[in-house]
Amino acid sequence: MTSTSSPQAQPLIVDSVGMTYGVGADAHEVLRDLDVRVDPGEFVCIVGPSGAGKTTLLRILSGLLRPTAGSVSFGSETVTEPRAEIAVVFQDYRGSLMPWMRVRDNVAFPLESLGVGRSERRQRADDALAQVGLEEVGEKYPWQLSGGMQQRVAIARGIAYRAPILLMDEPFGSVDAQSRFELEDLALRLRRELELTVIVVTHDIDEAVYLSDRVIVVAGRPTHVIDDRVIDLGPDRDQMTTRALPRFAELRTTILAEIRGQGRTAETDPTSGADDPAREMSV
Ligand SMILES: Nc1ncnc2c1ncn2[C@@H]1O[C@H](COP(=O)(O)OP(=O)(O)OP(=O)(O)O)[C@@H](O)[C@H]1O
Ligand SMILES: [Mg+2]
Repeated sequence: MTSTSSPQAQPLIVDSVGMTYGVGADAHEVLRDLDVRVDPGEFVCIVGPSGAGKTTLLRILSGLLRPTAGSVSFGSETVTEPRAEIAVVFQDYRGSLMPWMRVRDNVAFPLESLGVGRSERRQRADDALAQVGLEEVGEKYPWQLSGGMQQRVAIARGIAYRAPILLMDEPFGSVDAQSRFELEDLALRLRRELELTVIVVTHDIDEAVYLSDRVIVVAGRPTHVIDDRVIDLGPDRDQMTTRALPRFAELRTTILAEIRGQGRTAETDPTSGADDPAREMSV
């Protein structure tokens, strides 16, 4: 590997990816023919209705799940298994933090699989907890923390990997509105300070517009990319002023209309069995 192709400088490329669960009469085609490119340093949100296959796509991006068609590549390499360059924060932090382990151990534990030694695991865990503002809670257990704090622990575990790419699945879905805003700003700060590439899956259009350099809209049956839209709101976001911009409202309305358009298609298709996906969307 040359100095111009460091892991940090590689794009993540989804090429004609499809995913069908099951076989024969039980086959369920969830994703069809997705093409996505995420460049180093980008903050990209993938937005789509509940059940569209967002978690499926994230699992494919992370190498946890092999697509049944197409491929994912990181630079010149095909992603076929979890990689040290790609960290994942899963959808349900309550299910992913281990209640019998102290917070520090929860953050440090996955580093064992990367072959990181004991003292460095501890150091990285403490650094990551400090980066999310939780330097005081390493000795506590997850259940002693609020939901928002637990989610910070889950994010700390992701960044302790020191991976250039951070994937997050509905990371702020289970916390109150105020904590959600704080976590969104935390994600933006970490991306800037650690120079991360961040990909967030969410069903919340406003959150996607607020966070992103680019929003990828997925919908349809089977799910495919219906839009890949640059969010031209500038690099600095603020919960009050950015959300109040006319351009913010325009972008969210455009994206919602796109998903509603898909909803009408599904409603008129008697084989789809679909409800209007827009009903699932946060507005
Ligand atoms: N392991 C699996 N085996 C079979 N079907 C699955 C599996 N995982 C997901 N599915 C199906 O694939 C579809 C997409 O699921 P997925 O969890 O990826 O959607 P999602 O967009 O993340 O949904 P949500 O917004 O509710 O999190 C659903 O119909 C789901 O039932
Ligand atoms: Mg999901």
